[in-house]
Amino acid sequence: MRKPLIAGNWKMNMTNSETSEMLKDLLSMELSKNVEKIIFPPYTSIDRAVNILKSSDIQVGAQNLSEFEEGAYTGEVSAKMLIDLEVAYVIVGHSERRTIFAEDNKKINDKVKRALKEGLKVVLCLGEPQEVRDADEQESFVKKQLQKSLEDVQIDYTKLVVAYEPIWAIGTGNTCNPKDAEAMCKFIRQSLEELADKDTADNIRILYGGSVKPDNIKEIMDRENIDGVLVGGASLKSEDFGRIINFEVEK
Ligand code: PGA
Repeated sequence: MRKPLIAGNWKMNMTNSETSEMLKDLLSMELSKNVEKIIFPPYTSIDRAVNILKSSDIQVGAQNLSEFEEGAYTGEVSAKMLIDLEVAYVIVGHSERRTIFAEDNKKINDKVKRALKEGLKVVLCLGEPQEVRDADEQESFVKKQLQKSLEDVQIDYTKLVVAYEPIWAIGTGNTCNPKDAEAMCKFIRQSLEELADKDTADNIRILYGGSVKPDNIKEIMDRENIDGVLVGGASLKSEDFGRIINFEVEK
């Protein structure tokens, strides 16, 4: 049984005081115990978030990490620093890192290896741009991202989550049709079976991301191969994120 996972990626939003306010509001709500929950605040709010969420079942993740162990890498944050803050997960390969910060599959592969080596769980993001979807080449594009990002990685479904996030659906309000999202998540699962084995493919969690909101969460989560969501914009408001977490009771 794959436990549903609802994750909120705050991106470059939320000061420390805004973090406190949002999380206190979220904790005042009655949240489903049937789903795993993770918040990915900016680095500067991680310590605050960990402290506020300490006695809850909401985990804290980081949005990025350095591929290097330690040393003269000005502005970078290491896996060890994140572990010391009690961070559980790290996002690797988000499309904004790939496109705006020119992270290629080799760098992403190095980051995945570094994170797993130091004991962080990874949410690996994949997804095609609009022109690839227009040419109907999303499967080969995403498969290549998957293979290259996981080169020489021992795939362990307890430590790796994959998120399918078509770039054209991120922050645009233009959600991928749940049927198309399901087809891609199913394809990713089949590709994981080729890379690892059937047990791994059956048990690994695959998330959808891209304009997830309280009013579309239910139809997304209804799909067989979609085990959760990575939420950007709608994770910044406690009420919206709480409703997404509680999708099972959403009408
Ligand atoms: P969005 O972002 O929900 O604002 O589209 C999703 C993401 O980038 O993970």
